[in-house]
Amino acid sequence: PEAYDEKGCVSQKKRFAVNMQPSSNQTCDERMSQVTWEESRLRNATWEYGSKNKRQRSHDYKFVFEDPHRQLDFIKTSVINGDKMLQKERKTLPIYHYREQVLRAVQENQVVVIVGETGSGKTTQIPQYLHEAGYTKHGKVGCTQPRRVAAISVAARVSREMGVKLGHEVGYSIRFEDCTSEKTVLKYMTDGMVLREMLSDPKLESYSVLMVDEAHERTLSTDILLGIFKDLVRLRSDLKLLISSATLDAEKFSTYFNFAPILRVPGRRYPVEIHYTKAPESNYIDAAIVTTLEIHATQASGDILVFLTGQEEIETVEEILKERIRKLGTKIGELIVCPVYANLPTELQAKIFVPTPDGARKVVLATNIAETLLTIDGIKYVVDSGYSKMKWYNPKTGMESLLVYPISKASAMQRAGRSGRTGPGKCFRLYTINSYQEDMEDNTVPEIQRTNLANVILILKNLGIDDLLNFDFLDSPPQELLRKALELLYALGALNQVGELTKVGRQMAEFPLDPMLSKMIVASDKFKCSNEIITIAALLSVGNSVFYRPKNKKFLADNARMNFYQGDSGDHIALLNVYNSWKENDYSKQWCYDNFIQFRSMKHARDIRDQLTCLVERVGIELTSSLCNLEAMKKAIISGFLLHTARLQKNGSYWTVKHPQKVHVHPSSGLAQVPKRWVIYHELVLTTKEYMRQVTELKPEWLFEIAPHYYMLKDVEDLRKKMPRVAGRPWLKT
Ligand code: CDP
Ligand code: MG
Repeated sequence: PEAYDEKGCVSQKKRFAVNMQPSSNQTCDERMSQVTWEESRLRNATWEYGSKNKRQRSHDYKFVFEDPHRQLDFIKTSVINGDKMLQKERKTLPIYHYREQVLRAVQENQVVVIVGETGSGKTTQIPQYLHEAGYTKHGKVGCTQPRRVAAISVAARVSREMGVKLGHEVGYSIRFEDCTSEKTVLKYMTDGMVLREMLSDPKLESYSVLMVDEAHERTLSTDILLGIFKDLVRLRSDLKLLISSATLDAEKFSTYFNFAPILRVPGRRYPVEIHYTKAPESNYIDAAIVTTLEIHATQASGDILVFLTGQEEIETVEEILKERIRKLGTKIGELIVCPVYANLPTELQAKIFVPTPDGARKVVLATNIAETLLTIDGIKYVVDSGYSKMKWYNPKTGMESLLVYPISKASAMQRAGRSGRTGPGKCFRLYTINSYQEDMEDNTVPEIQRTNLANVILILKNLGIDDLLNFDFLDSPPQELLRKALELLYALGALNQVGELTKVGRQMAEFPLDPMLSKMIVASDKFKCSNEIITIAALLSVGNSVFYRPKNKKFLADNARMNFYQGDSGDHIALLNVYNSWKENDYSKQWCYDNFIQFRSMKHARDIRDQLTCLVERVGIELTSSLCNLEAMKKAIISGFLLHTARLQKNGSYWTVKHPQKVHVHPSSGLAQVPKRWVIYHELVLTTKEYMRQVTELKPEWLFEIAPHYYMLKDVEDLRKKMPRVAGRPWLKT
């Protein structure tokens, strides 16, 4: 074990690098924790951080050794010592002192609510405690996570703590990726995946314990799971249920589960001084910049965490801050600006964890992912804009938009708390005490009250839960959202006139996709083009990241993109052409570079496509091709997206056909310059205008042919009329 001593680690002369390049599916979080423990293990080794390195690779962390043979020793011993090290670390977590209490509570009660601050060890430790106490002898411990990234990184962390390979005893399961095996006893998975798992194992009989983690996030799937589990614990007296939450809303969960006991794990908290603005700020971005600079100029050392709403805003603030600091020159100390948001490339995300050098100060500009998901050490000051971005679904228009929305009191408390983790902190709220007390809601509106419910209702119906109006929700969704979802499922043919599940509905539920995409696939059977349609579905599922359009090569990129359009066949078919050309070129990376296509997205789409192929076979859809038959493909697309139709107006804009509203073709579409009388779109996005993304032309008579139950002849025939008539809504019993 002592294969290398402190002296042996570094030499300025002969250097040999051990490349700690992790596998590509490791996340930033995981890489960083790996690096930090290894760093402290090798205090005297030189630790180089990737971005300073010439190669500029995201995951090049290097440990430098004098002797090449030490490389192997290092790798061998670091595994053994790493385990010891991690075992020590486990014992320093706040929850460690509550280990026996947790186990006793679980033993004595079927349902237990656990509250503890972020970082106290709930997610990583409790499942291990249960494993150590023998709960995995007859079933798995399943732990749900609202986010995919969290499921992966936590599973990776726990597998390292247990000294096992990720995917063996400890695994994770997220949409389109199952990293578990026969051996798996601790399984971290997204809340949505548990719902899916219930389709094949309705009582979740392979689990002995279920832990609903981060319940305070109140995602749609978590809320639905809570409702289902409430029933399940009655059916399965052997099942243990844990609800864990990082905030103080535990009473609500406890009451919901018939006054289940609450176990509180005190965190290491220091007092936080809270400052409000005297008058309302007209522009919180400006206020955030000024406040940050003020803190930097006047306050004692310690890093700053600024909560903003999104990437664009963060980039703006970053630019302005850097500019002002440059202008101030040597009058002021060094300020290191680190942005962090969900889509940030991992090498840049890693920057926020690098310890701040002496004499400098770090300012982290973050979205609300830093509220509970990320924990950054050394933060002493928090600047809270009072806003975050939230998804809202408008049942009237069927449109989902990301809105900047005031945060809740609970969020504000959570944000402030981030400054008091390692010592007393200060929080600067960019709003008045009055608006905190009077205007802010106590809790964030749960997702179930502001999102499209069609997907979960389809799953619930498949689980035999029909009586949605009397379902015991923690917070009920508005009637209108429920009705809208039922209406959509009816239009797609997943439910019949009386709200019962149809064969199509059962087939659709097999696909882990939005109901409209699933319907498109199911319908492709009839039009004999399932091969093409699953390709299109896979590409639509990876989001808008197929085409690459660098700032300085827009013209070249746009030209390359147009090569995939045959005439005006539309955006869906263009995606299909991209995939097929890539395939013809042996899925080549170079080909992607040459054609301004994102290789990573294509690889992801290929994985999704492979899985969809299996599912298609499972539901009994034949794999057929009709590459030359555009009409067949378009009809399959319409079968899924029949509600997403729009009609050209004289002035060049479009009106959506149902629930009329003015929309435009997104500039990135191949049909942006070629107006078509009738189009179908994949989604609406609201930026400067309401834009339709992924647009394809259709013939109006197809609507009547494919969905006579939804489109009346009048809707599609009366072309002279400016606005189409809205067909009567089917009334659905629930
Ligand atoms: O769930 P909770 O927020 O209570 O804590 P946790 O996620 O179990 O984290 C406990 C500790 O494990 C943290 O303080 C981190 O140091 C470490 N951890 C990690 O290194 N990597 C992860 N992906 C998750 C946790
Ligand atoms: Mg946690």
